[in-house]
Amino acid sequence: MIYRRCGNSGIRLPLISLGLWHNFGEIDDFENCRKILHTAFDSGITHFDLANNYGPPPGAAETTFGQIFKKDFRSHRDELIISSKAGYFMWDGPYGDWGSKKYLVASLDQSLQRMGLDYVDIFYHHRPDPATPMEETMTALDLIVRQGKALYVGISSYPPEETTRAIELLRQLGTPCLIHQPRYSMLDRWVEEGLLDVLEKEKVGCITFSSLAQGILTNKYLKGIPEDSRVGRHLENGAISASNVTKDVIEKAQKLNAVAAKRDQSLAQMAIAWILKDERITSVILGASKPRQVTEIAAAIKNITFSAEELGNIESILA
Ligand SMILES: NC(=O)c1ccc[n+]([C@@H]2O[C@H](COP(=O)([O-])OP(=O)(O)OC[C@H]3O[C@@H](n4cnc5c(N)ncnc54)[C@H](OP(=O)(O)O)[C@@H]3O)[C@@H](O)[C@H]2O)c1
Repeated sequence: MIYRRCGNSGIRLPLISLGLWHNFGEIDDFENCRKILHTAFDSGITHFDLANNYGPPPGAAETTFGQIFKKDFRSHRDELIISSKAGYFMWDGPYGDWGSKKYLVASLDQSLQRMGLDYVDIFYHHRPDPATPMEETMTALDLIVRQGKALYVGISSYPPEETTRAIELLRQLGTPCLIHQPRYSMLDRWVEEGLLDVLEKEKVGCITFSSLAQGILTNKYLKGIPEDSRVGRHLENGAISASNVTKDVIEKAQKLNAVAAKRDQSLAQMAIAWILKDERITSVILGASKPRQVTEIAAAIKNITFSAEELGNIESILA
């Protein structure tokens, strides 16, 4: 594994991290979850990314992780960066959603209990809240660090302007923003329009999600929809469905697959390498339903440079 410094912090993250959004809920096989985590850690993936609402049902991924952590990883706690988040709907009533101090503090307490941890390494505000003053949300993140419940804080899916403000507020409070977590893939490039420039200027790290477009940027859907895929399993909570597997994206995936083959990579490996070619990206969070997917993606880091010709080919396919 290769570890990149996260912004101007003291922390280095593995180029590949593992996310537990899907595949770690009550509907999933516990031993498979365990094998995925072991395969990741044994590949040098020292960062596991969670959130309060990952499941299904919400909370279940943290519970599953907590059970495996207790069995297998407790003695490795100091070798791990474990993150959680709050910002999406979690419980009924006015205090279980968005960005109030009440919600963030209570939610992290619940997450720590589910995972059996004293603290998380990174705690994120999961999405911007247009109704809560940003001062309140950032003060909550600062408080959580001062309470020792998180070592670092981050934000997720904040647009460039809000990101600049959040970074500034956190700086004033004395709890620097460690990292931003945006969606970024060959098929979704919004971060190139300002966000990455802000993070570079502010020296804040960037860890991307859905960089395989939830599986579309792999060879999985090139010949139809397999039953045991994310689309085939009809998952909810933001998972892609058959309507996302359009003729247009599959044609693009087929052409990209040919470029990847010339690089001696699978399409999935090239999709991840393409993100990591930019030094401003600290890490890519991979989602995985099988241990072998982790092994395949961990090997992507062997080649994360692209020739001008390859980049040109990719751009013309994506255009
Ligand atoms: N901050 C946020 O708002 C936010 C939102 C979404 C996600 N995230 C984080 O980012 C993580 C990753 O997100 P994601 O799951 O959408 O990412 P992704 O990496 O784009 O998609 C993961 C899915 O792709 C398939 N896959 C992975 N490796 C493969 C391979 N080598 N060959 C073929 N298929 C492969 C698997 O699907 P199959 O089930 O089809 O095998 C896997 O579940 C999440 O777990 C979470 O930690 C954060």
